[in-house]
Amino acid sequence: MARDVLTVRRVRFEYPPDANPLWNRRFPEFAFAANGISLLMPYAEPYFVRSIRAVVPQLGEPLKSRTEDFLRQEMQHQRQHRRFNDIIATNYRGVPRLERSIRRTYGWLSRTRSQRFNLAFAAGSETIAFSLARWTDRHIGQLFVGADPVPATMYLWHLAEEVEHKSVAFDVYEAVDGSRLRYAVAIVVSLLILMWFVWLASLVMLYNTGRLFSPVAHLRLIKWSVSLGMTMLPTMAASALPGHHPEHFADPEFLSAWLRQYDPINETMPLWQG
Ligand SMILES: [Fe+2]
Ligand SMILES: [Fe+2]
Repeated sequence: MARDVLTVRRVRFEYPPDANPLWNRRFPEFAFAANGISLLMPYAEPYFVRSIRAVVPQLGEPLKSRTEDFLRQEMQHQRQHRRFNDIIATNYRGVPRLERSIRRTYGWLSRTRSQRFNLAFAAGSETIAFSLARWTDRHIGQLFVGADPVPATMYLWHLAEEVEHKSVAFDVYEAVDGSRLRYAVAIVVSLLILMWFVWLASLVMLYNTGRLFSPVAHLRLIKWSVSLGMTMLPTMAASALPGHHPEHFADPEFLSAWLRQYDPINETMPLWQG
């Protein structure tokens, strides 16, 4: 994949008026955990964008142009998640309250932490997103079979672009600061915040659908968390080692190939037909 140009895809996902936030009926808990991540996006991604945009004037080419495209990709992501999150919030009680506390958390980080920490946080979060994409790519045949096409496509498009731009925030952080210790602290904080809110969001959605006391639901969530941790933690640890760069990570194959099917004329991705 060419590393000098990022494609800004303006994909717009259309949902029917009765769209169901439970987009995976085989594994409702998986849909809820993914929806939990979706709820974070309109607050986490603009926080990364603000942090990185503040230092764009300091960057040299070609990183500067690449960073501007990266920021455009991230703004597209959060915009599309926001539309889907409205469907989640109108269907499930307790979600708007959760969204307020997510907004306060990332707002607080943005206001009170140093520019260097915020950049480390963005770079670390991008590594987390990349490892989520890696894990999803390995389990796509199991977890996305029979999923509703539009939300599934939205999630996969986002993950595929996270793979495509995996090194940009890291390069920006390296250009401005680059302390691996700060990066290691920030990536752990980012992961803990993500886990906390995804867990809360999953509980809220399980409650709304009468599954809060389903042992199967909790066992599945634990199983996926362990499996995800086994992909994510080594990736995170490797990314914090001196001399490591995200380009050293092999890209997941399916997502990268799938992203090449973007239709620039109609601004669409082929709908997921799993
Ligand atoms: Fe993103
Ligand atoms: Fe990203």
